Amino acid sequence: MSNERSGFSSRLGFVLATAGSAVGLGNLWRFPYLAAKYGGGSFLLIYLILTVTFGFALMITEVSIGRGAGTSALHAFGHFHKKFKFLGYLCSLIPFIIFPYYCVIGGWITKYLLTSLQGNTHAAASDTFFTGFIGKTSEPMICLLFFMLLTTIIVALGVKEGVERVSTFMMPALIILLIGISVFCITRPGAMAGVAYYLKPDIKHLSPTTFLAALGQLFFSMSLAMGIMVTYGSYLPKKADLEKSVTQVEIFDTGVAFLAGLLIVPTVFVFSNGDASMLAKGPSLMFVMLPKVFDSMAFGSIIAAVFFILVFFAALTSAISILETLVAGLTEGLHIKRTTACIIMFVLAALLAIPSSFGFGIWSHITIIGFSFLDFFDFLSNSILMPVAAFLICIFVAYVVKPDVVINEVESSGKFKRKSLFLVMIKYLAPICIIAILIFSIMEGMGMITV
Ligand code: PFF
Repeated sequence: MSNERSGFSSRLGFVLATAGSAVGLGNLWRFPYLAAKYGGGSFLLIYLILTVTFGFALMITEVSIGRGAGTSALHAFGHFHKKFKFLGYLCSLIPFIIFPYYCVIGGWITKYLLTSLQGNTHAAASDTFFTGFIGKTSEPMICLLFFMLLTTIIVALGVKEGVERVSTFMMPALIILLIGISVFCITRPGAMAGVAYYLKPDIKHLSPTTFLAALGQLFFSMSLAMGIMVTYGSYLPKKADLEKSVTQVEIFDTGVAFLAGLLIVPTVFVFSNGDASMLAKGPSLMFVMLPKVFDSMAFGSIIAAVFFILVFFAALTSAISILETLVAGLTEGLHIKRTTACIIMFVLAALLAIPSSFGFGIWSHITIIGFSFLDFFDFLSNSILMPVAAFLICIFVAYVVKPDVVINEVESSGKFKRKSLFLVMIKYLAPICIIAILIFSIMEGMGMITV
């Protein structure tokens, strides 16, 4: 069966497409704001250590399972152990919940991209632009459907012709744009104080909360426990060095997060005259603060357009990976054509996305356990289902099928240099950390603690 499947044409294709999945709003929006909040350098250091230990162990596990099974996430776990078939279903349910609301945010980015391409940065900088836009009925819906349709068309084109080709163009472009505007922004007068603020470790932030915040961020940022890495792993050529590929994806993802912080934190810092509370604005940082900053800068409208192009690319390649996982599962599960699966997914996702979009306007009075639609889907997937799936994956590999499944797959195409680290992580540390994240994120979601 694995012979008939289409896959990436090369290891580079895998690395760029997987990095395309990993690099998204998590890197460009959430990471800078968390780093600024949790003591700059201390957060960076903890995040880095977690990336090469915890992140590495989970990512190599998922990619190996996918390549070993030669199927998408839906059937991969059942391939190794019949009783764990349900884990494939669970991993495929998560992207099904995420995809619709991710497209809602993709739609907002589309709007900002169009506005900045028209040179309207000044309009986007007004206080009411963001809330005014998301509260409307038809415009956000059109933007989200456009973003969803574009994603669907790319996925319908296939793994090589669609997913890989788009990532091979967009990821290097993203890096070049990001480096370009970072250099421009940090050479603005006064920006160095912001760079120091971003990079200087602040020991008082070395706490369990910082650790858990970094861990939760890592999870989301590396697209772990959503079946994505399993599905993409199944497209990785058998001969390709697995450990090297995973390491390169990690470097890509962390490098982009670091650069995004270097771009955003000093820029907002200068604009707000060193007022750190401005950096802790959460979602509004990207959609409300940054347009104001761009509006006040020399060449601001060009910088704004470039910035939103790169955010758009990042969001699109992430959305592609979510839909690809769903479509791969559907084609294998129901034995239907890729195009048919794409149409089915588009219709279902559009129906599910509409409440999330309307939840900021005409349906804002409807809440689910106190959350708006979008926040509810986000809480359900990120705070509950993802830690549960990741925990089960660790238990499955460490104690049911045994770590040799991963080790043999990695060693079939190269050396497994961090094997002992992998073993300690998967058997002991990762399951414990995941339970800690689960408790932490439920408490955070319920408003018992704030991140
Ligand atoms: N990893 C992406 C990021 O850091 O923004 C986000 C993401 C990708 C979330 C894919 C969900 C997903 F299924």
